[in-house]
Amino acid sequence: MSHRIAVLPGDGIGHEIIEQAVRVLTALNLPLTLEHAPVGGTAFDLHGHPLPPATLALAQSSAAVLFGAVGDWKYDKLPREHRPEQAILGLRKAMGLFANFRPAILYPELANASSLKPEVVSGLDLLILRELTGDIYFGQPRGIRNAPDGAFKGEREGFDTMRYAESEIRRIAHLGFQAAQKRQGRLCSVDKANVLETSQLWRDVVTDVAREYPDVELSHMYVDNAAMQLVRAPKAFDVIVTGNLFGDILSDEASMLTGSIGMLPSASLNAAGQGLYEPSHGSAPDIAGQGIANPLATILSAAMLLRYSLNDEASASRIEAAVRKVLSDGLRTVDIFEPGTTKVSTAAMGDAVLAAL
Ligand code: IPM
Ligand code: MG
Repeated sequence: MSHRIAVLPGDGIGHEIIEQAVRVLTALNLPLTLEHAPVGGTAFDLHGHPLPPATLALAQSSAAVLFGAVGDWKYDKLPREHRPEQAILGLRKAMGLFANFRPAILYPELANASSLKPEVVSGLDLLILRELTGDIYFGQPRGIRNAPDGAFKGEREGFDTMRYAESEIRRIAHLGFQAAQKRQGRLCSVDKANVLETSQLWRDVVTDVAREYPDVELSHMYVDNAAMQLVRAPKAFDVIVTGNLFGDILSDEASMLTGSIGMLPSASLNAAGQGLYEPSHGSAPDIAGQGIANPLATILSAAMLLRYSLNDEASASRIEAAVRKVLSDGLRTVDIFEPGTTKVSTAAMGDAVLAAL
């Protein structure tokens, strides 16, 4: 039996980085059928929509999606529903990809890439579990209207709705505790319960779920404090579980602790184990087409795909070991280059990973 994988390169550097990940997957000789489809601004140009029905149908009928990146400044003037970002938001919602795993790992070879002192970040290995289909990202009602009341009555106002249902919190909390069980056994739930009702319910539900995981140490932290602790003492964290908006912000912060967002993969899973795998970085239109982008985050995302959606731990570990090998051999794309190492192109980095495999 062959597993269908939807390959959606997207915009900007998406094509270049996906190409290298596809080479790696192909080299493993696994029973995979890779099917490409356009997404993001590229799809808008071709079909008038960032997530055309055929692309969505392919994704939904696949075991997993390997996603590059979307977005380009040239689409910023389009109405919101046609902007490239709607493709990734639409895929998350339509496929029910509620659990977003964003590891932040500092590779020993890249300790100098961080802007923090080496002793603060060396050995850093934390996991942010971000709820991905609820919260203020998708809550209704939302819009721009004339304020019906309040001190600014009659003026134009924008409004969004932050909301979480109990079962929505419960299912992500369970995954947080289970992830902590497989790691150091510590889960930190991040909210803003001192101000927000949504967060009060979040905290109550997570506390309730904790009773099923006596082996996991649960703590709660307000999001502003979490932002501070992440730069003060990031190694104090093991797993962080949080909502969509706070997770968006904290995961960017956490990725930068490692100094190399070009290295970080991510996985977004639904209840059926279907997943979308993408690098944590964006489409970087400023360097697109130059052959200098770092393909390692995408290659590592392909490893996560094999591990989580196809249950193929052996192949995932093989890819990860190959990536560690090229790093210890001193090969670096420009984003992680430092004197004394060897600067290589996107394709040469792909070649090196293939050779290491
Ligand atoms: C991310 C991105 C997206 C988000 C954007 C592109 C819609 O920032 O995956 O973190 O906000 O979720
Ligand atoms: Mg983000």
